[in-house]
Amino acid sequence: MRETVLITGASGLLGRALVAEFAAAGFSVLAQYRRHKGEDGERVRWLRGDFAGPRGTAGFLRRQRAVLEACRHVVHNYGPVEEKPTAGLTGADLAAAFQSHLRPALDITRFLLDHAPLRSVLFIAFEDAGVERPYLKILPYAMAKNGLLLLGLSLAAAHPGVRFNVFSPPTLAGAALRHPHARPAAPEAVAARIRRIVQGRASGRHYHWTEPRPPGRQGGRHG
Ligand SMILES: NC(=O)c1ccc[n+]([C@@H]2O[C@H](COP(=O)([O-])OP(=O)(O)OC[C@H]3O[C@@H](n4cnc5c(N)ncnc54)[C@H](OP(=O)(O)O)[C@@H]3O)[C@@H](O)[C@H]2O)c1
Repeated sequence: MRETVLITGASGLLGRALVAEFAAAGFSVLAQYRRHKGEDGERVRWLRGDFAGPRGTAGFLRRQRAVLEACRHVVHNYGPVEEKPTAGLTGADLAAAFQSHLRPALDITRFLLDHAPLRSVLFIAFEDAGVERPYLKILPYAMAKNGLLLLGLSLAAAHPGVRFNVFSPPTLAGAALRHPHARPAAPEAVAARIRRIVQGRASGRHYHWTEPRPPGRQGGRHG
C-alpha cells in the first residue's frame, strides 16, 4: 500500500519539486496550498489551507481530518520569509514570526501524532540554522527557523517512536531572496535529498545541503 505524505507549502518553489519527487517515488501525496492549487492526479491531492492565523490552521485540520488520518509522513515545508530591518524590530515582529513558522508546524504535528499512524516528521529550516551571526533584515525569520530546529530535535527525544529530523536547504535556484555568496541549488535536487531523508532511519538529526559546512562562514552578517 502507498504511504501517505503531507507536504505543506506544496505550491511554492521547493514544494512543487517535493510533490513531483514523492509522487514519482510512489507516495500518495497530500499537497497543501493557499492560492495556487496544482493539478490533482492519481497520486496527488491538493488541500487548501491558510496558516496565517491559528484559526486557519485549526480549520485546515478540521476540514481535512479524514484524509490527514492516513498520514505516515509530513514535510513541514511552509515557511514564509519576510524582510524587516533589525534596527526597527519590535516584539510583535518576533511574535508574528513564531506564530507564522512554529505554530502551524507544531499544531499540525500534534494533530498527526494524535490521529494518524505517523512515522516521520521533517522540518525545513534554512541554510544558516544553528549558526550564530547577526542578521540585518531577516532576524525574525532566522529566530523562528532556529526555533523550528530546536523543536524538531526536542520532539525526536520526546517521541522515540516517530522520526523527527530537520533539513536546512541552500538558496534555491529561482528564489526571490538570495544570500550574496549563494550557490543556488536546483529545487529538484534538494527535493530528492529530502525524500531520501524521509525514507531513512535516522531521527533527531539536522541535515545540511553541503556537509561539512565550509570554514569561515560563521559570524558574518547576513541580509
Ligand atoms: N527559497 C529559498 O532559497 C530557501 C532557502 C532556504 C530555506 N528555504 C525554506 O524552504 C521552504 C520552501 O521555500 P520556497 O522558497 O519554496 O517557498 P515559496 O516558493 O515562497 O512557497 C510559499 C508556499 O507557502 C504557501 N503559503 C504562503 N502563505 C501561506 C499561508 N498564509 N498559509 C498557508 N500557505 C501559505 C504558498 O501557497 P500559495 O502559493 O498557494 O499561496 C506556497 O505553497 C521554506 O520553509 C523556506 O523558508 C527556502
